[in-house]
Amino acid sequence: MKLAVFGYPIEHSLSPQIHSAFAAQFGRELEYARILAAPEQFSERLQEFHQAGGGGANVTVPLKEIALTLCDDLSERAHAAGAVNTLIRTKQGWRGDNTDGIGLVRDLQRLGVGLKDSRVLILGAGGAVRGVIMPLLNAGVSTLHIANRTAARAERLAAEFAEKFAGVTASSLTAIETERPWTVIINATAAGLQGERPHVSEKILHGQPFCYDMVYGQQPTAFLQWAAEQNCATADGLGMLVEQAAASYRIWTTEQPQTLPVLQALRQQLEQK
Ligand code: ATR
Repeated sequence: MKLAVFGYPIEHSLSPQIHSAFAAQFGRELEYARILAAPEQFSERLQEFHQAGGGGANVTVPLKEIALTLCDDLSERAHAAGAVNTLIRTKQGWRGDNTDGIGLVRDLQRLGVGLKDSRVLILGAGGAVRGVIMPLLNAGVSTLHIANRTAARAERLAAEFAEKFAGVTASSLTAIETERPWTVIINATAAGLQGERPHVSEKILHGQPFCYDMVYGQQPTAFLQWAAEQNCATADGLGMLVEQAAASYRIWTTEQPQTLPVLQALRQQLEQK
């Protein structure tokens, strides 16, 4: 099977390694390339890939929203996410799906975070957040609060889902409710990439919620360091990366790979860098 990941930049993508490890579990031959495509070249690169026999692909930053516009058919979750991270070639053309949200949900389940009837606080209101709202709600989350530096952006996003789910609310980072404890706080801002953490009150950690950061790296992000100092359990987004890959792999092959050994190997590799 001929697969690839498209992005800009793309050289540091771990996806080829993850999918090779999955394929090895089933003795499957897999060709999985990294393809660099600037947004304006993406459509052409994708067409070339198809002509060369490409049957499926992952899409990463900053191409996920453009990928949606290039699809002939969309899954419900890709539609709700407004973004596509998985492409499948069918007789009708490209079908777009999105496994980011289910990747997060599966990782939280692996970490023992119970989502049924839980109270989830998400920091951030960008594309990364939009992609995970529906899967979190489908996992039984009862309150999902979106807090963002720019409150209007959080409010706009919440309004898209609030009609179907009454438990979706929004505010600025400074107006987050602190009386009732949160079950889990998910940092989906880009702050960690700049070595910063979102400016939120320590009071949101009341009751010691599980703290998760979608960003991963050799060192814990500033947000996770801060949460750990307040004795909260923490995890970064490496597990989400592996779980979203597993869900994509399953769509292409129907095989369900084991994720834990792949995650452990990646973690070791990251720590040795
Ligand atoms: P993505 O698709 O990864 O979500 P994005 O759409 O650029 O990327 O969104 C980045 C998110 O990180 C936004 O929620 C942004 O807040 P604003 O909407 O107010 O810009 C948030 N963000 C980035 N840097 C931040 C920082 N230093 N502190 C808090 N939030 C930050």
